[in-house]
Amino acid sequence: MHALNDDVRSLAKPALYEELESSLRGLLAGEPNLIASAANMASLLYWSLPDLNWAGFYLLDEASGDLLVGPFHGKPACVRIPLDKGVCGASASQRRTLVVEDVHAFPGHIACDSASNSEVVVPIVLPEGRLLGVLDLDSPLLKRFDQQDARGLERLVAVFVAAIAATNSSGKDGSFVTPHV
Ligand code: SME
Repeated sequence: MHALNDDVRSLAKPALYEELESSLRGLLAGEPNLIASAANMASLLYWSLPDLNWAGFYLLDEASGDLLVGPFHGKPACVRIPLDKGVCGASASQRRTLVVEDVHAFPGHIACDSASNSEVVVPIVLPEGRLLGVLDLDSPLLKRFDQQDARGLERLVAVFVAAIAATNSSGKDGSFVTPHV
């Protein structure tokens, strides 16, 4: 069983993300189920990064084309986000990390929790190029997230994608198939 290290919360960002990368590798190792891995990653981030009020996933629903809320920690959130709406939709459709210092100044921001004042959203793209969804973190503080957080979270998303890909490769040619849900 993974033991959460409460001490990480007081580390400076480079050491904190280094530590989280190593914890996440251990947490996801060998597990092919996407939801199980996403749930534990959301928990790890929520309890390890200071000043968050929401941490979790929106996963692309192929049927509707919307982002659909996935595993998270925080208050109940909007269930569906169209790709042309909100910070999550913008990050997913542009396939780039968005750091929003003040969500109230972001046109189209979707307020799921009125306590949120800043946000960072990282797109999750599978090795085959398919968009899986986004990782979304909210904070009650203004300017909570900076480029160090953006790069650190991108590295964690890369660990997540690699773990999912490693446990979902097809036997024949190693090409990637739909993750287990
Ligand atoms: N604020 C997000 C919506 C999701 S919640 O923050 C959990 C957005 O504007 O896309």
